[in-house]
Amino acid sequence: MNNTRKIHIAIFASGTGTNAQMIINHFIDSELLMIALIVCNKPQAGVLNIASKEKIPALIIEKERYFKGDSYLPELEEFDIDFIVLAGFLWKIPSKIINAFAGKIINIHPALLPKYGGKGMFGKYVHEMVIANKEKESGITIHYVDELYDHGRIILQATCAIEEGDTPASLARKIHVLEHIHYPSTIEKIIRNGLLS
Ligand code: GRF
Repeated sequence: MNNTRKIHIAIFASGTGTNAQMIINHFIDSELLMIALIVCNKPQAGVLNIASKEKIPALIIEKERYFKGDSYLPELEEFDIDFIVLAGFLWKIPSKIINAFAGKIINIHPALLPKYGGKGMFGKYVHEMVIANKEKESGITIHYVDELYDHGRIILQATCAIEEGDTPASLARKIHVLEHIHYPSTIEKIIRNGLLS
């Protein structure tokens, strides 16, 4: 497989970037794919430090062009992007990108969709609501992305128990562990299956 062109992944992330880091680590020596670009809408986001440490190009995007202009398709083309992985990216994906990358965008959500999804359901708000509703379990959902928030076809879910004394913060830690275990390997499976089909 040495002479085969690697699949180019863009990670869209605007937070701390722990998932981005795990994905980068997982594929560091991969012959199958490479993380070719980090796309971020927050100039102070931690994920940009990761991009610079890992020597991965970063693209900082602004709202107007993203939602109302060309949605940065020229840059995605310039970096030869094949597949988009969302990892803590809160803006909706505009139809220009959805259409250009049909079936090639995935997201990770920190709850068991379809519960606790949709606009405004992110980060601590999800965990606060799960705890307030006295759920017995929560988990993660990896899914394809369409034009609605947290809506596309589900690829994988993994669960964790919520115990007496769990708080939104302790639940967030459990969820992060699940994300770090499952996201990189699921990306690998999707890409490999895509190559085989
Ligand atoms: C994750 O919990 C993910 O589920 C959500 O955003 C968070 C990103 O965390 N979509 P990190 O920046 O990767 O630590």
